[in-house]
Amino acid sequence: MVIQVPKRSRPGVVPEAGAHSNQRNGACHARKLGRAGGQGRIIPASSRLDGRGIPELSWAGRKSLPHAASRRLFCQDKQQGLGEAKVESVNTKDTVLVTGGAGYIGSHVVLALLDAGRRPVVLDDLSTGRRSMVPAGVPFVEGSVGDAGLVADTLGCHGIGTVMHFAGSIVVPESVERPLDYYRNNTVNSHALIVACLKAGVERFIFSSTAAVYGMPDRLPIDEETATAPINPYGASKLMTEWMLRDAAAAHGLRYVALRYFNVAGADPQGRSGQISKVATHLIKIAAQTVTGQRSEIAVFGDNYPTADGTCVRDYIHVSDLATAHVAALAHLETGGANQILNCGYGKGCSVREVLAMVEAVTGKPLPMRIAARRPGDPPALVAGVERIRATLDWTPRFDDLETIVSTALAWERRLAGQ
Ligand SMILES: NC(=O)c1ccc[n+]([C@@H]2O[C@H](COP(=O)([O-])OP(=O)(O)OC[C@H]3O[C@@H](n4cnc5c(N)ncnc54)[C@H](O)[C@@H]3O)[C@@H](O)[C@H]2O)c1
Repeated sequence: MVIQVPKRSRPGVVPEAGAHSNQRNGACHARKLGRAGGQGRIIPASSRLDGRGIPELSWAGRKSLPHAASRRLFCQDKQQGLGEAKVESVNTKDTVLVTGGAGYIGSHVVLALLDAGRRPVVLDDLSTGRRSMVPAGVPFVEGSVGDAGLVADTLGCHGIGTVMHFAGSIVVPESVERPLDYYRNNTVNSHALIVACLKAGVERFIFSSTAAVYGMPDRLPIDEETATAPINPYGASKLMTEWMLRDAAAAHGLRYVALRYFNVAGADPQGRSGQISKVATHLIKIAAQTVTGQRSEIAVFGDNYPTADGTCVRDYIHVSDLATAHVAALAHLETGGANQILNCGYGKGCSVREVLAMVEAVTGKPLPMRIAARRPGDPPALVAGVERIRATLDWTPRFDDLETIVSTALAWERRLAGQ
């Protein structure tokens, strides 16, 4: 799988003055003057309208959103014909940018935001996501979070007050083979996004982090005070983004929540979204592919771990519960809550054998499986300490049940397979 972020033409930016909106995109368009290689200053068309010259998106001015009225004019001008883009969201700062919103978790969060009456905008380069995962009516911008110009246009013109950052590369073994690609996409591009957020006056940032930042912890459950010691470039690349957020918060006042997900599984119970990745690495996804005949069997990597049944134990959280945790994290920040790092799990573990037994129970059929060698770097058990998230967020999980997780994942996979 190629993870290099493709250099695309920049659909969100009109190269010459006088060009019109690209109707495929929810991005607002700007004239570029003196911008080379995607860098440089964006000059909204509105600066021509009022004759006041170039609005500076300065660090110091990030709270005050200079030239808001000018930008509104510009956005209204440029959004004519966009259809689905909501002009009224401009400058209200209550719109949420969901990076990676065409992917598995991001698309569920978009649904949760819509269900909560929020206004999401999706930015995704479609490297692993799909355009069709973004619900109709949600503005969609195709491009990379590392594209400073495109991100600045998007933040400014959609009146983004909060960024939820899911975009990234997520396959652990691939990160070992191609570490620099992971540091670029997960760390360098996150740096570019955070800088753009500060310049644009984004107030809140919610980050998809991971239990991989803990590495191989020696005690369970793993609470947030557990030392971080990632054992692969994926975990390290995400931890560095946490550090950037911590330090940007201290220096510049950005407010953030980093959510450390444990094992995310399942699919939207209403069948609106699910996992689409072709390169499946998640146990329940692979089991679902086996059930639907896309694989002949499932491998169990090691049955001699020091666990009750010898197989690895993980804390599986339903993706729709994870999605509502993001909405709760947003409410937490909006109501003045402190910056937080929060584990996302249910605080209990299921073994690989227990998961596969549940798949057999739900389908009523035996699942072809074989015992394979352990994979290097697989900890025997990872279970989240969840006291902090329960105490901090107004969040009640609704799908804390292995049968629900498995059956929603199976229903989605059957739909994908046309069964
Ligand atoms: N799936 C899990 O179990 C799990 C566990 C812990 C953390 N996470 C984190 O959750 C986030 C989402 O994971 P997912 O499972 O939904 O993966 P996914 O691959 O389904 O989604 C990632 C999305 O980001 C997009 N993307 C990637 N690089 C981009 C870039 N530079 N600019 C714009 N878009 C880009 C992809 O096209 C895709 O739509 C990731 O940051 C991942 O590290 C996932």
